[in-house]
Order: sequence, then structure tokens, then C-alpha cells
Amino acid sequence: MKAKFTASDAASFLGITIQAVHKQLKTKGLEFEKNQNRVYFGHSTSCGLFNLKFKPKTVAFQIVKGGTGKTSLAHAVAVRANLYGARVLCIDLDQQGNLTQAFQVNAEELPVMVDVLKEGIKLQDTIVNISEGLDLIPSRIENAILDNVIMLGRFPLEHVYKERLQTLRKKYDLIIIDCPPALGQSVAAIALSSDVIIAPVTPEEFSLSGLKISTQEILNLEQNYKTRIPFRLVLNKFDTRTSLSHEVLSTLIKHPIYGEKLFKTYVRASQEFPNSITSSESIFDNLKSSSAKEDIDLLTKELLEIQKKSSSEISLGTLGEAA
Ligand SMILES: Nc1ncnc2c1ncn2[C@@H]1O[C@H](COP(=O)(O)OP(=O)(O)O)[C@@H](O)[C@H]1O
Ligand SMILES: [Mg+2]
Repeated sequence: MKAKFTASDAASFLGITIQAVHKQLKTKGLEFEKNQNRVYFGHSTSCGLFNLKFKPKTVAFQIVKGGTGKTSLAHAVAVRANLYGARVLCIDLDQQGNLTQAFQVNAEELPVMVDVLKEGIKLQDTIVNISEGLDLIPSRIENAILDNVIMLGRFPLEHVYKERLQTLRKKYDLIIIDCPPALGQSVAAIALSSDVIIAPVTPEEFSLSGLKISTQEILNLEQNYKTRIPFRLVLNKFDTRTSLSHEVLSTLIKHPIYGEKLFKTYVRASQEFPNSITSSESIFDNLKSSSAKEDIDLLTKELLEIQKKSSSEISLGTLGEAA
């Protein structure tokens, strides 16, 4: 896997020409590669070029329904955030290990979360490095008993993951947790340890009653543990051609509760998502522009509150360097 940030994307992000991006790369001595006349680079060059400061965040992709895009969005957003220069940790908690497979990690012999809770293995000792600034805590089928381990061990839910994650928070700008399609102890404990929960919903499987179950669960947790758990929705697999997609979008926008929780960005249906998994790549490994890349870029910026740099900031940066 080798995710790429293109110079043309950098140009539109910075509001400068591609030539100006090339010039900055050269004057700053940043590494880049070229393929068929297209310039691209990875995480460390982005750090030098964009120099973004991130507000650290722990984000859990959760919803009881399967197949709505938790894993796909977690994977793509993690890769894109890393490409903007964020230090990212992904935690796979689904016993199916789809996120682990997406990163091409074989977890059979590796320690996973259940070993942390059962055997007292340190959470940091389960971390696998994927690429520069991008790490993963993998998952395998044994994580299916996380709920039981939590219950039998009488671990207080609010402490199961929270302190363990606390030590890692300092090392990362973004921690992304991919949850199983369930509402058990483990998922609840993750909700209590996250800064925000993102629930992907799709027009095809959309139901307000299904959504209500998830939100009610969060409300219960908030009341029982006297805390706030911010909850956001993202519409995924949006098909511009179907009226259903537009109807669901407008239902959500107008909804008194869900309207304000909805990400402005919706992610269009794109074959790039299933294709990327089959080819064991991220959607940002190839250089073709696509709706999937555009949407994930917008979603990542919205989530991390990444603002387009103003031209004065850029010229200040250049002036600073010249001085
Ligand atoms: N925007 C999208 N367009 C097309 N297919 C998608 C999109 N998002 C996800 N998929 C596909 O839908 C299926 C389920 O997605 P996945 O991320 O595994 O969902 P979950 O983790 O919620 O079960 C996968 O085959 C995935 O490739
Ligand atoms: Mg999944």
C-alpha cells in the first residue's frame, strides 16, 4: 500500500498553482515522486508542506447495522488524514477483522484487544506500523468474546478502554476505531472513550427506527454515566441518480434531531470502495481523480476541521523561510 497526495490536490488545497507547489517542494527539500508527469508525495512531505496543527480526536465508527460503510470510511478517512500529515492510529475491534485485512495485516499470530483485557498485554504492544504516521491495532475472530470478557471481568464500562487509550492519545492526532455491527458492552465502552461517534447510514437500508435504536443507546449511556457522547451521521452510498437517495438526504436534513448531526459531506456510491479492498489498496493509492477521493477528502477535512490555508499564511510561510 502506498497512498499518494497529488500536487494538483495540494495546489487546490493551498489555493496556489501546481507550479507553485512544485517550487515549494523543491525549496523546502521535500521528497516527491513523479509518474506520467504527475507529481505526488506521502505523509512526511505533507507534514513539511502543509504544516497543519490538528486537534487530537478519538473517533468511533459505530452503528448496529452491517454493510453501511463503517470499515470503508474508517479506512479511507484514516489514509486521507495521514496524507494531510496527521499521525493516525486505527483500532479494529470487529472480530471479522475487515479493517485489518484492508491494511493487509495477518493478525493470526498477533496480540489483539482481547489479549489486552484477558492477558494484561499493554495496548501499545499490540500496535502494528502500516506506513509512516499510520498504525493499526489489528483484530481477529477471538475479539468476538470481548463482551463476555468485559462482563465476566466486571470491568467498569467507562474504564475498559478509556485509560488505556489515554496513554496513546498523546502520540496521535487521530484515533479511529472500527466497531462491529453490535450494541454490546465493548461497543458501549468504546462510545464512553471516544470524542465522537460517527454512524454511516445508507439510502438503501435507511430506517429512522433503526437509527433510533442507536441514538437511544447513546442517550442511555449519557444518562447512566453522566457524560456527553457527541454523535454524527454520515450519508454513504449516495446515488445521485435515484430519488431514494435524495429523499433520504432531505429527510435527514429536515429532521429535528438528526439534521444538525449530519455531516455536510455525503459519500457517493462508487465502485472504488469495493475495488480498493479487492486490490488490497487504499482509494488513494492510484492517481485517478474520482468521486470517492473527492468525498473522502471533504469528509476528512470536515471531521478534522482542516481549513483551506489562506494565501497570506502560505506567503508568510515562504517569507519566513527566505528570512
Ligand atoms: N460509498 C460506497 N460506494 C460503494 N460501495 C461502498 C461504499 N461504501 C462501502 N461500500 C461497500 O459496501 C460494503 C460494506 O461496506 P463496509 O465498509 O464493509 O461496511 P460495514 O463496515 O459497516 O459493515 C463493502 O463491500 C464496501 O466496499
Ligand atoms: Mg465493518
